[in-house]
Amino acid sequence: MTKPVAWVTGATSGIGAAFAEYFASQGYDLVLTGRREGQLREFADVLGKKYGASSRLFFGELSEESVISKIERELQNDKLVHVLVNNAGFASYGSFHEGDLNVYQQMIKVHCEVPVRLSYAALKTMVDAKKGILINVASLAGFFPYPNHTLYSATKTFLINFSESLGVRYKNDGIHIVAVCPGMTMTNFHTRMGLDARKVYKIIGLEKALTPEQVVKNTISCINHRKYVCIPGFHNRFLRTGSRMIPRKLLYKIMSTWIEKRRTNPSLKSQEF
Ligand SMILES: NC(=O)c1ccc[n+]([C@@H]2O[C@H](COP(=O)([O-])OP(=O)(O)OC[C@H]3O[C@@H](n4cnc5c(N)ncnc54)[C@H](OP(=O)(O)O)[C@@H]3O)[C@@H](O)[C@H]2O)c1
Repeated sequence: MTKPVAWVTGATSGIGAAFAEYFASQGYDLVLTGRREGQLREFADVLGKKYGASSRLFFGELSEESVISKIERELQNDKLVHVLVNNAGFASYGSFHEGDLNVYQQMIKVHCEVPVRLSYAALKTMVDAKKGILINVASLAGFFPYPNHTLYSATKTFLINFSESLGVRYKNDGIHIVAVCPGMTMTNFHTRMGLDARKVYKIIGLEKALTPEQVVKNTISCINHRKYVCIPGFHNRFLRTGSRMIPRKLLYKIMSTWIEKRRTNPSLKSQEF
């Protein structure tokens, strides 16, 4: 019997790897993307042995046209696609004018253009099959003005709105679309930014970090409850709700004070996100 297929971008580590493992455990075959070839191959082998999932792998930098278009073409031709997780992503930190414009352009591609093109490639098959799940990994940062993560939060805001619009449009076509908006999560994400994971990840309080597996479990529960936006963790939902209830001017003040405190105190800089 042919198995349904789950596509996951950025499956080498963290949240993407946890989604890949979840869908493998549910009887799916996989299509996984990543840049670290050896690590992705090893991971796919483990999932094969553990769950009997077969994996097709795509390697490369997702902001490069040759890489995007190859994955897009293959996805368009995959008539067994049932799940697409647009997860690959990264952050950059600092004042907007001091950053690298090339990095901003890459981020717009990886966080916005790639999810749009892959969603477009998958949706026709899902509509014809009258079933499918589309998960866009956004971020809690997408709900806030984020002075030193300008492009990061702006691109994640795009993903949230994109997912809500698609979710409403396709709700009667048997397709569920959700933007998952994690807060702090224990992955490679922060060490890649040069931050010290031991200082960044808190075990209690409003900045409490979740595991990637908790993020996935919450997302599946949101899908079962037909939610278009999923915020894993009570503390993160509290932050989101609180930020909506206070006047916007006060929110600007809080964000700028927070950034200023870290800018002028180097010992806090290694914890900033
Ligand atoms: N960790 C958090 O606190 C947090 C919070 C909110 C949202 N998120 C979102 O969660 C998603 C997954 O991140 P993570 O936390 O799991 O981090 P991670 O462990 O660093 O994983 C990121 C994945 O995305 C891939 N990737 C990143 N940039 C890429 C690029 N330019 N081209 C191709 N692949 C790329 C990486 O591939 P390689 O490893 O092979 O290079 C890796 O597989 C991201 O979209 C991130 O914005 C994370």
